[in-house]
Amino acid sequence: MPNSDKVLLEISNLNVAYGDAQALWNVSLVVNEGESVTIIGPNGAGKTTLVNALAGIIPARSGQMLLDGRDLTQTPAHRVCGFGVAVVPEGRRLFPSMSVRDNLDIGSYIPSARARRAETIERVYAIFPRLKERARQLAGTLSGGEQQMVAIGRALMACPRLLLLDEPSLGLAPLIVDNIFAVLTEINQAGVSILMVEQNVSKALEFAARGYVLEQGRIVQAGAAETLLRDEHVKQAYLGL
Ligand SMILES: Nc1ncnc2c1ncn2[C@@H]1O[C@H](COP(=O)(O)OP(=O)(O)OP(=O)(O)O)[C@@H](O)[C@H]1O
Ligand SMILES: [Mg+2]
Repeated sequence: MPNSDKVLLEISNLNVAYGDAQALWNVSLVVNEGESVTIIGPNGAGKTTLVNALAGIIPARSGQMLLDGRDLTQTPAHRVCGFGVAVVPEGRRLFPSMSVRDNLDIGSYIPSARARRAETIERVYAIFPRLKERARQLAGTLSGGEQQMVAIGRALMACPRLLLLDEPSLGLAPLIVDNIFAVLTEINQAGVSILMVEQNVSKALEFAARGYVLEQGRIVQAGAAETLLRDEHVKQAYLGL
């Protein structure tokens, strides 16, 4: 896996709250250039909150988020893409009554990505040949796995440096999950850094180089994925061992 020690994303002491209910407490983490990192944690741990804070959908109460040294902490959602961050959201959020192709094109709305649209769409079709076959089909009529492919393809259309994924395996059959993770490995090896939140802990830790454990809004553990896979707490709480 391509890797370096150059920091791409650095989150420091991030606090996020919904009114009086604080959801993230002093979360700090790093994703290096070219790295694949996963955040694992149970229901309600704050995984989606973290993704949405990074995506500019929920404001940070305090703390800092830097992408390649640029501060994106108070950046609204429609401008985060311009920082090189693309999101595959929880539940995929496609436009069901639009075609696959139109859903993909929406991903390249920023000028720098739009200029490369023709070349990027061919790359996306090379990764997901199924989407080329189904380009004119309405997204809402696709299977769950195909819809996840569209969601990932749409994010790639933005030519991101960092791909953020919120539970890409959710609701998909095991074989489809394997397929999605294989494709994400390919995308990572092509140089796109990946930060993924997952409840499918074994798959996520097999995929990623490093992981963080998020519980009740706090990072409680961090380390190499292979170390976390052998960790007693992780084994008992997440792997049913
Ligand atoms: N819009 C909201 N308003 C108020 N509280 C919220 C809101 N969204 C999430 N929360 C709360 O914030 C905490 C973290 O929720 P979040 O959705 O980030 O967890 P998660 O780890 O993504 O869970 P899941 O695995 O179910 O997707 C939970 O206690 C949740 O109830
Ligand atoms: Mg969630």
